Amino acid sequence: MASEPEVFQVTFLLPSGDEPTIPIAREEHIWDAAFAAGITLPAMCHQGYCLTCAARSEDGGEVDQSDSLVYYPADREAGFVLLCTGKPRSNLKLRTHQQKEMRQFRKQRKLLAPYSWKEE
Ligand code: FES
Repeated sequence: MASEPEVFQVTFLLPSGDEPTIPIAREEHIWDAAFAAGITLPAMCHQGYCLTCAARSEDGGEVDQSDSLVYYPADREAGFVLLCTGKPRSNLKLRTHQQKEMRQFRKQRKLLAPYSWKEE
């Protein structure tokens, strides 16, 4: 049986227009790996709750969100990713700084959207 890949190539689409790609191991949280590579992204709770670290997958890649405190199937269907507690399960292309978009998405569906006052 072929073994699962241990490391994935993750590209970050940053607001600056930069698109750095770094290797991230399957047991590493994406936010932590980015930070270690010198890419500092927004975050607050680091528990998969506050949505501050939200990103959106641009290529339908797979992310394991089992470490996140709150993550809904609808989030996954829409491509939203919580970088602080997400672990790669495929190569990824992630648009960062999507907290406003993810809060709006959650609110529209009457799902938990902590700290939404930040966007009002
Ligand atoms: S930093 Fe709070 S959900 Fe990621």
